[in-house]
Amino acid sequence: MEFTVGSGVRRSCAPTVIILAAGQGTRMRSDLPKVLHVVGGKPLLAHVIDTAIQLEARRVCVVYGHGGERVRASLAHLPVTWVEQASQLGTGHAVLQALPHLQHGDTALILYGDVPLIRPETLRTLLDAVVPSPDAPKGALALLTVDLLDPTGYGRILRDEAGQVIGIVEEKDATPRERQVREVNTGVLAVDGGYLANWIARLDTRNAQGEYYLTDIVSLAVADGVPVRTTAPSVLIEVLGVNQRVQLAELERAYQLCRARELMLQGVTLRDPARFDLRGELTVGRDVEIDIGVIFEGQVQLGDRVRIGPHCFLKDVTIADDTEVRAHSVLEGATVGQGCVIGPFARLRPGTTLDSRVHVGNFVEIKQSQVQEGSKINHLSYIGDADVGRGVNVGAGTITCNYDGANKHRTVIGDRVFVGSNTALVAPVEIGADAIIGAGSVIVCNAPSGELTLSRARQETRPGWKRPTKKASTA
Ligand code: UD1
Ligand code: CA
Repeated sequence: MEFTVGSGVRRSCAPTVIILAAGQGTRMRSDLPKVLHVVGGKPLLAHVIDTAIQLEARRVCVVYGHGGERVRASLAHLPVTWVEQASQLGTGHAVLQALPHLQHGDTALILYGDVPLIRPETLRTLLDAVVPSPDAPKGALALLTVDLLDPTGYGRILRDEAGQVIGIVEEKDATPRERQVREVNTGVLAVDGGYLANWIARLDTRNAQGEYYLTDIVSLAVADGVPVRTTAPSVLIEVLGVNQRVQLAELERAYQLCRARELMLQGVTLRDPARFDLRGELTVGRDVEIDIGVIFEGQVQLGDRVRIGPHCFLKDVTIADDTEVRAHSVLEGATVGQGCVIGPFARLRPGTTLDSRVHVGNFVEIKQSQVQEGSKINHLSYIGDADVGRGVNVGAGTITCNYDGANKHRTVIGDRVFVGSNTALVAPVEIGADAIIGAGSVIVCNAPSGELTLSRARQETRPGWKRPTKKASTA
């Protein structure tokens, strides 16, 4: 249950974590189970599970109930033990369901599936408070508590004159005097698993809500002479739960400000941390600048001195040093080389790889294509399923016609090709190196290298041709 580090400081061992997630979440007014609603692009419950994993928990049990199959199915990839609580008879009853998974000597740590922002450091401090001492051979009961200006709705922490915790009383069971207590139970607690099993077995439902209250273990601990200790989170937001969508939005913003702060401390310039959204993982080089309203999803990597303009969306992209992404660009599943200029209003779709110093301008869409060093596609183009060589200039309005209605075909454009404006390249087709394609061409056959190829009606002038005139009205 403990080990001693060199300094003699006692440290707790890996706990068994029990996450309560069986509540209905009625106030969300949603068909989606509450714990699947997201903060920072990740389900509430997944945040809590990830935190438990960071604590190197021996086992993570999730007690699920309402909508449980959906919860299990969408988080099936996470290494947890799923425990069903068929009917929600209270927090004590929920913990009871997980007890068979506790092993002798385990420390149990209780978390809530709808309290997503609890930090591992806070939980380590709580677990350290459980560690045995001469007055508590099997360890103390440790509660995470906070003082609230408005404690309404929470269980109140009751202490004796000496300041020792003697119990928790739920709001609905509290006397007016007890309701004045501002120290509240966050619900998060840690205790030896043997004690927990013993106390849970002794719970009853003689209370205002007719439920098995987990909180009643506190007075049982006191009766059994087990010390009750309390620790506090470093910030309040860690212990706030989600019951309705206003709280969900508040936690989202708090979470985003936290991520924004971390990035700024890493050396990123954020034009406004209040208008920053990270819904995945962002890794950054030095002196990265991010303007307002940018949304990052999935895994995004930005090299040194990368600049992201306002209102861009980046999902699963890697961008090398010195590249600039200008306003309103959408990049997804793309790899962008050094010193490129993307946008404004550019769209890079999955399978796009740009080499260094490529320019992609406004209203250009690229997918499943490689563009080599120094090529420019600056205006109004669609480049799909194409291999574009080095130093190519693709004129405004050039389209690769990659789809014949049934299958996709590739377009290959050699080095230093110049494609005139408003050209349709009907794939499969290949343009040889150094070729020039005349503007307005529809290219259906391969164009030889080094030559001018064009396919369009010859321009003619008809001298003296008269414009039609309006017929005289018959009415
Ligand atoms: C509980 C605490 C209260 C504390 C508050 C903090 C008890 C009796 N009271 O009150 O002291 O201040 O949390 O938010 O523990 N759950 C189940 N199965 C159940 C009942 C609940 O899994 O049968 C889960 C819920 O999904 C939720 C958590 O347990 O994640 C807390 O349940 P909730 O009903 O919100 O508890 P409160 O009455 O608010
Ligand atoms: Ca609650």
